[in-house]
Amino acid sequence: MEQEIFSLHMERHRTMVEDFIATQCVAADEPYARLLDAMRYSLTAGGKRLRPILTLEFCRLCGGDIEAALPAACGVELLHTYSLIHDDLPCMDDDDLRRGRPSNHRVFGEATAVLAGDALQALAFETVLSAPLAPERALRCAQILTHAAGHAGICGGQQLDLAWEGKKLDRDELLEIHLRKTSALIRAACLMGVAAAGGTAAQEDAARRYADSLGLAFQIRDDMLDIIGDEATFGKPIGSDKTEEKTTFVDLLGLDGCAREVTRLTDEAVSALGIFGSEADFLTTLSRGMETRNS
Ligand code: IPE
Ligand code: IPE
Ligand code: MG
Ligand code: MG
Ligand code: MG
Repeated sequence: MEQEIFSLHMERHRTMVEDFIATQCVAADEPYARLLDAMRYSLTAGGKRLRPILTLEFCRLCGGDIEAALPAACGVELLHTYSLIHDDLPCMDDDDLRRGRPSNHRVFGEATAVLAGDALQALAFETVLSAPLAPERALRCAQILTHAAGHAGICGGQQLDLAWEGKKLDRDELLEIHLRKTSALIRAACLMGVAAAGGTAAQEDAARRYADSLGLAFQIRDDMLDIIGDEATFGKPIGSDKTEEKTTFVDLLGLDGCAREVTRLTDEAVSALGIFGSEADFLTTLSRGMETRNS
């Protein structure tokens, strides 16, 4: 896809997401305004908005109404933002920088950061369920998101990521972590787009295969950037995985091996989009961009 057309398409999706998020957690006269400020601080700190863009795009690809799917898409971003706030806490990865700003707990303190994460997670589901979709579609979206958020997804993956710090992991163990802590939500984002559009089983299957490959490639690239990234561009600390004694794909495959694996997985992701024909050109270009992303 031509870069100019890609950028326009991207900007349209991103603007929809940013405009929606700008309306969230605005403190008026609530006595707990500090909690809302903490939620808003992380939500509006930037971020690529990859997950809601995937939801909107899969909805579009399956012939759905992306305006109606917007709250569902943004629900994924709210949930993702909660996971980042908790991931940075001293009891987790203990990182001081996120989205180019001091981490939530560095500004608001640990207790408020925990609560901001909790409240963002609840707001995520409230937001998904508020989408003006047919009720069974909104419900399906919420079901997909709850599954990805829970023990079989992010929380289970984060549990293993922490429990296995300091342990030398093999490929299967690393996959066990990555598929849960990162791929699960990316998969949910894609499947929610299909569900919001009332897509077919074949479309759902394509979305799942695309997301599983993209999600893995995405986390392997994240592991690479923890070493070769530039803090100002990456927006988070470099070397955090080493400090926290995490095994990463870089330990298993080396940087060149990781780059090849990211390319192989991206090829796999792109080929899963075959059933959408040239309509999937935007997603193809997006996936190729993620392969060499620096932020
Ligand atoms: C960071 O996700 C956490 C991982 C799963 C690697 P992103 O790289 O999508 O973070 P933002 O949303 O752009 O800040
Ligand atoms: C991301 O893993 C997992 C979640 C936030 C759920 P990382 O710990 O590698 O993410 P970053 O590098 O801190 O963004
Ligand atoms: Mg982590
Ligand atoms: Mg982390
Ligand atoms: Mg990381």
